[in-house]
Amino acid sequence: MALVRAMVLHLFLMSFLVLQQKRECDAQESLIELAKPKLKKCGIDRIYQFGDSISDTGNCVRESYCAAHTKTGRLPYGMNFFRKATGRCSDGMLIVDFIALECDLPLLNPWEDETADFSHGANFAVSGATALSVKSLIKKKFALSATNSTLSVQLHWMDTHLKSVCSTDCPKYLEKSLFMLGEIGGDDFVYPMRNGETVDEMRKMIPQVVDSIIHGVRTVISFGATQIVVPGNFPAGCFPIILTLYMTRSSTAYDEYHCVIEWNNFIVSYNNYLLQAIHKLKKEFPNVSIVYGDFYNAYLWLQKNVIALGFNKNNVQKACCGSGGKYNFKPDMTCGNSGVPVCADPNTYISWDGIHLTQKANFWMTKWLIHDMLPQLNCHL
Ligand SMILES: *[C@@H]1O[C@H](CO)[C@@H](O)[C@H](O)[C@H]1NC(C)=O
Ligand SMILES: *[C@@H]1O[C@H](CO)[C@@H](O)[C@H](O)[C@H]1NC(C)=O
Repeated sequence: MALVRAMVLHLFLMSFLVLQQKRECDAQESLIELAKPKLKKCGIDRIYQFGDSISDTGNCVRESYCAAHTKTGRLPYGMNFFRKATGRCSDGMLIVDFIALECDLPLLNPWEDETADFSHGANFAVSGATALSVKSLIKKKFALSATNSTLSVQLHWMDTHLKSVCSTDCPKYLEKSLFMLGEIGGDDFVYPMRNGETVDEMRKMIPQVVDSIIHGVRTVISFGATQIVVPGNFPAGCFPIILTLYMTRSSTAYDEYHCVIEWNNFIVSYNNYLLQAIHKLKKEFPNVSIVYGDFYNAYLWLQKNVIALGFNKNNVQKACCGSGGKYNFKPDMTCGNSGVPVCADPNTYISWDGIHLTQKANFWMTKWLIHDMLPQLNCHL
């Protein structure tokens, strides 16, 4: 595993250096500064991840129903992860993988791999998982997802895990642990979207979804967590899936980056609601570092700096793996279906399959996020 980590880091440093040689001097310096591993100084010894497909490193593919409804268990998913399809929704590594590498820790094992080692933490995220419980989704009459491993189920797994490793003094055991509570909540809105609900209808669900996430934060604090990252959501109005589903001739529907305004406004409302809830919680728990993971602005930064970061500006809103239409995305011909092509170089694309990011985009997302979050984490720098 250590060898694998070294190889992965080497790979990234190499591609990074090549990238650097092509850039202007000042831009070069700021990017080099950004690329340095910084999280290591925090002395984090374990990471616990809760979430959905943004962070799933192999749970869905270990649930029979979920596995039968995902394409992530086979290539081209994982084509840049030593050509191994692990269940990650990307061509390679995810944000949580890069965070683990930054901490000098092994990549987190998926909880549903019963033989795996969890001494450095565990990954409870499952593709399709919602923040709301199955019961409340059924109440809303939303078609159920491919998994029932919702946030409350994932928290229950963590509880079970702790009972086996630290029954007497869990706060001590978790003293240097980092908790990633999300991204989760995005899938809660996918089901109403599929049911044809309007964005305004979805807005009404925001308080309930955020409450559920905040309940999750309280639960991990009760376990003994002292460093918690709570990510918001991406500006999905810039993603091929939303650009395709909400396609319109009206130019006023798009912002300066050709993202769907209505959709991004919805995400901003959601993120602001979450941010306010986090502020309240911070007052209640002054001794716990609760940090908002600003996926929204990290992504906008990526989009603004596509050229400096080595992406191809013609590919910014196209899926690397997919087929058809302006955005290389068709709902019934998505990545992983037979006959769906993959782009020649995923490193020049931000979007992997129209919904999830490429490894390269995840790498730069992580760099921006760490730069943003580090001063707020309890790191004694
Ligand atoms: C999830 O739970 C519901 C209700 O209990 C059940 O009908 C459904 O089959 C379950 N789905 C999966 C994927 O296990
Ligand atoms: C918070 O930390 C301070 C200083 O370490 C300590 O004195 C105090 O008891 C802590 N408060 C709570 C509520 O844990």
